[in-house]
Amino acid sequence: MTRTDSDTWDLASSVGATATMVATARALATKEAEPLISDPYADPLVRAVGVEFFINLLDGQIDLTGEVGTAAAMMTNLMAVRTKFFDDFFTSATAAGIRQAVILAAGLDSRAYRLDWPAGTVVYEIDQPEVIAAKTGTMAQIGATPTCERRTVAIDLREDWPAALRAVGFDSSAPTAWIAEGLLIYLPPEAQDKLFDNITALSAPGSRLATEFHTDHGAGMRERGAAMSERWRGAGLDLNLTDLWYQGDRTSVVEHLDASGWHTTARPRLEVFAEYGRPLAETEDTAALRNSLSVTAIKN
Ligand SMILES: C[S@@+](CC[C@H](N)C(=O)[O-])C[C@H]1O[C@@H](n2cnc3c(N)ncnc32)[C@H](O)[C@@H]1O
Repeated sequence: MTRTDSDTWDLASSVGATATMVATARALATKEAEPLISDPYADPLVRAVGVEFFINLLDGQIDLTGEVGTAAAMMTNLMAVRTKFFDDFFTSATAAGIRQAVILAAGLDSRAYRLDWPAGTVVYEIDQPEVIAAKTGTMAQIGATPTCERRTVAIDLREDWPAALRAVGFDSSAPTAWIAEGLLIYLPPEAQDKLFDNITALSAPGSRLATEFHTDHGAGMRERGAAMSERWRGAGLDLNLTDLWYQGDRTSVVEHLDASGWHTTARPRLEVFAEYGRPLAETEDTAALRNSLSVTAIKN
C-alpha cells in the first residue's frame, strides 16, 4: 500500500501497524532478564490490537532462529535504548521545571501512564483518531490511570494540529517538552519542515525537544527497509516499510532547529547505545544506526 496525502489507518494497518510493532518490541524488552526499560502496558496494548503475528511474537510462538531471530533481537534492543532515551529526556525536562509535554505521533506510547510526572503536569498526545481511540479504550479497559493530566488530540499531523492542540488547553506561553519518536520518516519532507516550524511557533523560551533523525534518505534507506520487511515477511508479517516511509532528500533537523532559535545537540545513536551499556558491534544490521542521530534541543 503506497502512501497518499490524506491516508488514514488503525493500529493494525499501514503506518499504524508500525506503532504496534514497536510496542511489541517494548513488551519484549520489558521481559528481558536485565531490562533497560519497564513498559508493563505494552503487552496488553499489543494484544488488544489483535494482530496474530505480534501476539505470537509476545508468546514466543515465532521461530526466532536465523535472520528473523536477529531482526527481532535487534528491534527489541533498539526499542529498549530508544525508549530509555525519550524517558530520560522527559525526566530531565520535568526536573528542570517543565510541566507541559507533547508526545507527537504517540501510537502505543504509555508514558502518560507510567512515568513519574510531577503534580500538575499536563501531557498531550497527538495521533490519528483511530490510534488515539484504541489506546484510550484499552487503557480504560485494563484499569490503567494516567500519572499526569493526559489530554488527547486526535488529528493527522499533516493537518492543522496546532489549532487542535490549543483547543484542548495547550499553553504556548509555558515551556514545553516535545518528543517526535519514530515519526519523521512517515512524514513527507515538507511536512517534516512544517512540523518543526509549528513546534517552534508554539514553544516558549526554555522549551525542549527530542527526536531522531536519519541522515541518509536515499537508496541505502530503501534497501534497509526492503531487507527488514523481507525478514518479517518470512516470519509471517506482511508490512512493507519501504512503502510507508517517505524517501528523498529532507532538511537536516539539526540545521533546521539551529536556524529556528534552538540550541541543538546531536549524537550518533551508536553512542547512546554505548552510554546505556548496550554497545553494538559494527555489522550490516547496525549500519542504519551509523547514519542516525539522537537529537535534543532547547529553545533559546
Ligand atoms: C513507528 S510508530 C511510533 C509510535 C510511538 N511514537 C512510539 O515510538 O511508540 C509511528 C506513529 O506515527 C503516527 N503517525 C505517522 N504519521 C502520522 C500523521 N501524519 N499524523 C498522525 N500520526 C502519525 C502513527 O499513527 C504511529 O502511531
